[in-house]
Amino acid sequence: MEVLGIDIGGSGIKGATVDTSTGELTRERLRVPTPQPSAPAPMALAVRQIVEHFSWTGPVGVTFPGVVLDGVIKTAANVDRSWIGVKGADLFGEGVAVLNDADAAGLAEVAFGAGRDRSGVVLMLTFGTGIGSALFVDGRLVPNTEFGHIEIRGKEAEHRASDHVREKDDLGWHEWAERVQEYLTHMRDLLSPTLIIIGGGVSKKADKFLPHVDLGDTPVVPAELLNQAGIVGAAMAASGFGRAG
Ligand code: BGC
Repeated sequence: MEVLGIDIGGSGIKGATVDTSTGELTRERLRVPTPQPSAPAPMALAVRQIVEHFSWTGPVGVTFPGVVLDGVIKTAANVDRSWIGVKGADLFGEGVAVLNDADAAGLAEVAFGAGRDRSGVVLMLTFGTGIGSALFVDGRLVPNTEFGHIEIRGKEAEHRASDHVREKDDLGWHEWAERVQEYLTHMRDLLSPTLIIIGGGVSKKADKFLPHVDLGDTPVVPAELLNQAGIVGAAMAASGFGRAG
């Protein structure tokens, strides 16, 4: 099935058509900058621009960087707070599937990337503007985990260890990796995962920091779909994949 997947992020909104049986993009992706302020109306316009670019009339899936319960946005840590309470279908159109960005990336990685054929507890963490999380038990998603907000040394993890913080505070890779290591150790101790997948834009540069991360018996691997995972996962959600019940 071919579906248009759109990934809304703190800095860019990316879209492409996806073959949901292979997880491959069928057309080159389009990226438009996230409007500022990142309020619902200008963001909806940007999403429409992507739909029109692909002259798309088929199914559409959209990710959102916050908790999405029954299609309604519940939190907005890194985008305009006026998103809270918005119903995705009212804004993007009836039938458009909306889900959390990290959940989408995780769905794609577990189906087609670093987490395929892995049973047990698999944890995907995305490092970008914030830290997103997706938790899988034998391939089934536990939606809307928000592990980027767990406190480490009295501060939310994403305020210490996101990729945005690395850039903002001009941290060296090794210095940043120490923060990531502390965070991952904490997550490992809480969840005992069989595998941790590192996603988000930073997964492209895994060679710079993963050599400094060691969790003993728990493997920590970079995402394989890199920053396409959100687009692919959005498309999968619209095709009915990962739906609860
Ligand atoms: C949000 C999550 C989101 C993550 C990555 C966090 O601040 O609370 O819902 O998945 O950022 O965008």
